[in-house]
Amino acid sequence: MREFNEETLTKAVVDRLKKTPDPRFREIMGSAVKHLHAFAREVHLTEEEWFEGIKFLTAVGQKCDDKRQEFILLSDILGLSMMIVALNHKSVPGATEATVLGPFFAHGAKEYGYGGDLREGCTMKGDDVYVCGRVLSLDGKPVPNAALDIWQAKADGIYDVQTEGEFELRGRVKANANGEYAFKSYKPKFYSVPIDGPVGDLIRATTNNHMRPAHMHAIVSAPGYQQVITHVFTDGDPHLDSDAVYAVKDSLVAQYRKVSDAAEAKKLGMPSPFLKLEWDFHLSPESGTKARKKIAASDAVA
Ligand code: BEZ
Ligand code: FE
Repeated sequence: MREFNEETLTKAVVDRLKKTPDPRFREIMGSAVKHLHAFAREVHLTEEEWFEGIKFLTAVGQKCDDKRQEFILLSDILGLSMMIVALNHKSVPGATEATVLGPFFAHGAKEYGYGGDLREGCTMKGDDVYVCGRVLSLDGKPVPNAALDIWQAKADGIYDVQTEGEFELRGRVKANANGEYAFKSYKPKFYSVPIDGPVGDLIRATTNNHMRPAHMHAIVSAPGYQQVITHVFTDGDPHLDSDAVYAVKDSLVAQYRKVSDAAEAKKLGMPSPFLKLEWDFHLSPESGTKARKKIAASDAVA
């Protein structure tokens, strides 16, 4: 077969893919080709424009290294990451909703017990917050021995893994046998996604918002339950309605309460006054829906 034109080329490419042995890979590639061709036809893409696209994708790849994942960032700001979360994690009534993982999760963070202090060794101070709550099943029963992987940006909006140095404001917090957890941290602030690379150029060209509303990240895992990759957002944040990566859910917006009771501060080992964030996580049972591939504490750094 030869002499393809814009009417016949798509079918020819998809037909040639039909001998791909893996059926799922064949389906994905066939669909990708159809949509890519349709896109080029719809906007009547010129050779100069496509070369700009190739230069952009090359720059995205070249920006990636073991600390920087520009492709995840691109997927995030195009809403593709949240589309994939939405497709694979339909909201289950009563269960903590899933959001994007983002590019700043890191394996190997220190383990903390009940009341552990994630501010340890932090190079930047913030507003002290005592975070506590329970990990519960959908019927409200305590889930024993859960682990909460927590990470958040420092007061300057930069994550520890974006710079050289030790982990900061990051830890694996173990809940107790009654499903209770607690840790000390700083109240997160809103911050910009990294805009010093090609994805930043793309955001500027579109004039879209590059800010993320303040949040803590959490991955909550427990034997027999589906792991949930989620955020806890801060109520009142000015960027809740314009999150650069479309990850906000109303059910994940939490209130920080000011505690001025010196006796309570003393009991919890906090300065007075301090902020308190009480937040429960609700996990779905493992059986039933398809589980997201679990992130294990022992995994190699991605
Ligand atoms: C984050 O929340 O850490 C994040 C998510 C997506 C893009 C950039 C940062
Ligand atoms: Fe974040």
